[in-house]
Amino acid sequence: MFESLTPAKPDTILSIMQAFREDKRANKIDLSVGVYKTADGATPIVKAVREAEARLYESQDTKTYLGTIGDVGFNAAMTSLVCGPNADGSRLAAAQTPGGSGALRMIADLIRAARPDATIHAPDPTWANHIPLLSSAGLNLETYTYFDAATGAVNFDAMMRDLRLAKAGDVVLLHGCCHNPTGADLDQAQWKAVGALLAERGLFPLVDLAYLGLGSGLEEDAFGVRHLMTVVPEMAVAVSCSKNFAVYRDRVGASIIWAANAGQAQIISGKLGAIARSLWSMPPDHAAAAVRIVLEDEKLRGEWKTELDGMRGRIQTLRKELAAALNRQSNSQGFDFIVRQAGMFSRLPLTEGQAQRLKDQHAVYVVPDGRINIAGLNPENTAAFAKAYAETR
Ligand code: LMR
Repeated sequence: MFESLTPAKPDTILSIMQAFREDKRANKIDLSVGVYKTADGATPIVKAVREAEARLYESQDTKTYLGTIGDVGFNAAMTSLVCGPNADGSRLAAAQTPGGSGALRMIADLIRAARPDATIHAPDPTWANHIPLLSSAGLNLETYTYFDAATGAVNFDAMMRDLRLAKAGDVVLLHGCCHNPTGADLDQAQWKAVGALLAERGLFPLVDLAYLGLGSGLEEDAFGVRHLMTVVPEMAVAVSCSKNFAVYRDRVGASIIWAANAGQAQIISGKLGAIARSLWSMPPDHAAAAVRIVLEDEKLRGEWKTELDGMRGRIQTLRKELAAALNRQSNSQGFDFIVRQAGMFSRLPLTEGQAQRLKDQHAVYVVPDGRINIAGLNPENTAAFAKAYAETR
């Protein structure tokens, strides 16, 4: 059976994560995988989630199946969190998924079923796993210009120029906030211009919303999705709870579809269930139930928001400290762009050779394309990282 198989290419991000775990050097610094860390390098369980898990443990009296689209209370709470409490629920279809990755794959299958010849236009660069996840559903993938490495910002003119060339009916993949891997986000005026272009050209937005609340705030980070819902007839959102609820390994996210009308929303809802059945039958429940309990309970929701605000605030402070440290090392203001970006990531000018030297000589782990996870820094290691970065240039 398996004689023809060749070894799988190791996943870049996950193999760096593994190499870091195995590194015995005491001064090692992990700026690779997109996981939030405290100043001590820990990724604690969010207190409100812990409390919700305790309540779940006390109250849950069965583990029988829920169904293909998961916990409908979770789906409703996530839809309201993402789309706002006043969105027209009759036009929304949602399904609980194993992580944001499950949502992306489910939506790709939905698009493939609806329009098999659609091309997905992904930003260049984008999260490395977008490519295998979306193309495994059999869709064509193309890229559009997104990032300007010289300014550390979105190359907006080039992005709009490229998107104008997409054919009507194609799909445009957008990062809702905290662009992975660059940290360069659209501002509100740019979201409006993109929305107008998508509407005018008949393009379908697929928004990956993996870092809601970690950029500028829960409401601010949802702006892009909510604005698009007012200008395009239909769209899809792949949401993850991994980062903002810190339930990474428990795998929970949601597919949310904004349909043209209530009738289509019902058909799509059934189709999402059928796709789930063909992929994983039914999603894992535990973290979805915990997230639902948090979102439905005013006290727990408030505590979660406070903890999320703390994570975001720490990342923003680290951004300032890193920019200052790199500016000092380079005797320039050349790293101010880091402060203007949002979320866990920034992309530094860096060669693969430099990434290797950072690892070998300084025990610093970064993604070889220059992506760093800002949350892996702390007041002690920021200066050390900036020095190592300067020394390996
Ligand atoms: C990342 O971008 O590092 C995370 O989303 C983890 C992953 O699955 O790649």
